[in-house]
Amino acid sequence: MSSHAHSHGPAPAGPQPLPGVDSIIAVGSGKGGVGKTTLAVNLSIALARLGFKVGLLDADVYGPNVPTMLGTTVAPEVVSGDRILPSVGFLSPGDKPLVWRGPMLHSIIKQFLGQVEWGRLDYLVIDLPPGTGDVVISLVQTVPLTGAVVVTTPSDVSLQDARKAIEMFKQVKVDVLGVVENMSYLVCPHCHQEIDVFSKGGGERTAAQFAVPFLGSIELDPDIRKGGDSGQPVVLEGDQSPHARSLFKFARHVIDRVSELKATEGPVIEIQ
Ligand SMILES: Nc1ncnc2c1ncn2[C@@H]1O[C@H](COP(=O)(O)OP(=O)(O)O)[C@@H](O)[C@H]1O
Ligand SMILES: [Mg+2]
Repeated sequence: MSSHAHSHGPAPAGPQPLPGVDSIIAVGSGKGGVGKTTLAVNLSIALARLGFKVGLLDADVYGPNVPTMLGTTVAPEVVSGDRILPSVGFLSPGDKPLVWRGPMLHSIIKQFLGQVEWGRLDYLVIDLPPGTGDVVISLVQTVPLTGAVVVTTPSDVSLQDARKAIEMFKQVKVDVLGVVENMSYLVCPHCHQEIDVFSKGGGERTAAQFAVPFLGSIELDPDIRKGGDSGQPVVLEGDQSPHARSLFKFARHVIDRVSELKATEGPVIEIQ
């Protein structure tokens, strides 16, 4: 950075790496309500439990749920001048919706990335809004994303939108880390049979169709919902908990996929 310190020319074009942040993983979907935030939050905590330094950015500016799912009520701290530790959840207290237009969206995404003291991170996980809109475009213009996780349920309508999300990531040249199928089945608490509430296997088929890895199936589990609503995500129970096992497996797949991509993309840096 010092080589640009005295330059008064225009800012360098194109995405700039975030200093100190190794991998940036976006969690997206075509549809809302498929479990993006749930998976982004549990993935972040699982990665941290597995020994990594993790940041989580709530980029769902229309429906920021990360603070609720993490049980966070602490106001953002201004650390020096204009640098803070925010979430849109903190900026939008209560039920008041935020109304953002394109240019404002772009600038808030840039601020979340550039004016936040993220520190040194192995992974920065970004919870995206549903769909294929402005936020993703702003993100890819601001930082190089390592890859995107596409969340879907097995239902046809969710898969239809997931295919669009995969195509969008391809168009903006973001590698798809893989597809994860959420709400894959429900284990009946009475007869212990699996019930395919939203159909079955579509996530895996879609991954195969686009030649991207399948990152796993997460069951529909009332404890996962409760964990989100209460700010105590189930992965806090550890990887031996029956409610968290599939989430840890998913997190391990993500780790493998990121290492795989990094190995093919650039020089491997040895970490002691
Ligand atoms: N595997 C799951 N089992 C049970 N409930 C889930 C699961 N995944 C998500 N949910 C619940 O479904 C709702 C929508 O999930 P959310 O993560 O907010 O979706 P999105 O971010 O895609 O809109 C939330 O109430 C959440 O707790
Ligand atoms: Mg969400």
